[in-house]
Amino acid sequence: MIIPIKPWLDRANGAAGQRGGLVLAADAEAEEFMRSTMRGSAGWKHQEEGNRMEFYHQPIMAKEILAALAPLEGKQIFDGTLGGGGHTELFLQNGAHVVGCDQDAEALGYAGRRLSQFQDRFLPVRGNFAEMDKILEGVGIDRVDGVLMDLGVSSHQLDEPSRGFSFREDGPLDMRMDDRAEFSARDLVNEWAEEDMIRIFREYGEEKRAVRAAKEIVKARQVAPIETTLQLAGVVEKAVPRISGKHPATRVFQAIRIAVNREMEVLEAALDKSIQVLGEGGVLAVITFHSLEDRMVKRFMRRHSTPFIDRPEWPEPRENPDYCLTLPSRRAIAPSEAEVETNPRARSAKLRVAVKLED
Ligand SMILES: C[S@@+](CC[C@H](N)C(=O)[O-])C[C@H]1O[C@@H](n2cnc3c(N)ncnc32)[C@H](O)[C@@H]1O
Repeated sequence: MIIPIKPWLDRANGAAGQRGGLVLAADAEAEEFMRSTMRGSAGWKHQEEGNRMEFYHQPIMAKEILAALAPLEGKQIFDGTLGGGGHTELFLQNGAHVVGCDQDAEALGYAGRRLSQFQDRFLPVRGNFAEMDKILEGVGIDRVDGVLMDLGVSSHQLDEPSRGFSFREDGPLDMRMDDRAEFSARDLVNEWAEEDMIRIFREYGEEKRAVRAAKEIVKARQVAPIETTLQLAGVVEKAVPRISGKHPATRVFQAIRIAVNREMEVLEAALDKSIQVLGEGGVLAVITFHSLEDRMVKRFMRRHSTPFIDRPEWPEPRENPDYCLTLPSRRAIAPSEAEVETNPRARSAKLRVAVKLED
């Protein structure tokens, strides 16, 4: 089904339309780059598979994302978080070209196979969105009309016990989105100093019992290394009481995942890079799932959308050298009640959108 688009960013559409669509580079150098970035994954030349594909991930705020990015024919979108390819599929169905980036080989293989009918307009690339400038340069793309980052992990990653994100089913304590990374949740839990764990449980997990949780972990690992997700969940449960329907280990698991994947650092870098790769009128859309991420995106967008800065010690306001964005809405957009009802994962989602002013 193609969702009709009602673009509300006329300015963005106008500028992108005048410039015309970008075309994916198909030269040997780009192909070689793709092969190297896809090492270890299913490959961007899609592999054969039966027609049945398992559920992977339900795209969040699909209508809002389509309205913001208006991925019409001739537009070039960089989807920094390809996942199961849900958002990318909508972009492709509406006529856009998409470079779909994910650091997870499994996601790339899955989305690549699922969207193989669009292979003339769709390029899956293995990489970190913090390197979107290099990724795009590697495939011969200079500027894009839209950047999407739908942060965090996919339902598939969360639910697949072997990936080590789940506190409901047992699996190795891993939590790496990119299996080429050397540092895993196992290393963090068994090797980090107590104070460092307290800091991330507080900062990334907003866990009130951060001290107790870290102390329990240190106590447990003195007896034997903590190797599995259920072992860790059991240890955390001793320190954090069960409140409402939430699993007591939810916040600690979230904090460890963020630290293992350096999610805050890469988001900060990616936001800056998005300014570099967006053409005039290009749209940045970011979906966040916790307040820390949302705060970072909000501050970034504010900083770049304020034309003048004023300080008490200055005689008059000065031009802001970072001014390059305009915000269609200063507030974050929340999912509809209907969406939250059908997809509880959307509950904490917030979408922020910015439009690049000049190239
Ligand atoms: C929430 S899912 C995206 C779902 C996708 N929008 C869809 O509709 O299917 C997030 C995906 O982004 C990937 N990811 C998260 N951080 C990333 C990063 N820094 N660079 C590249 N991929 C990342 C994860 O591996 C995961 O597959």
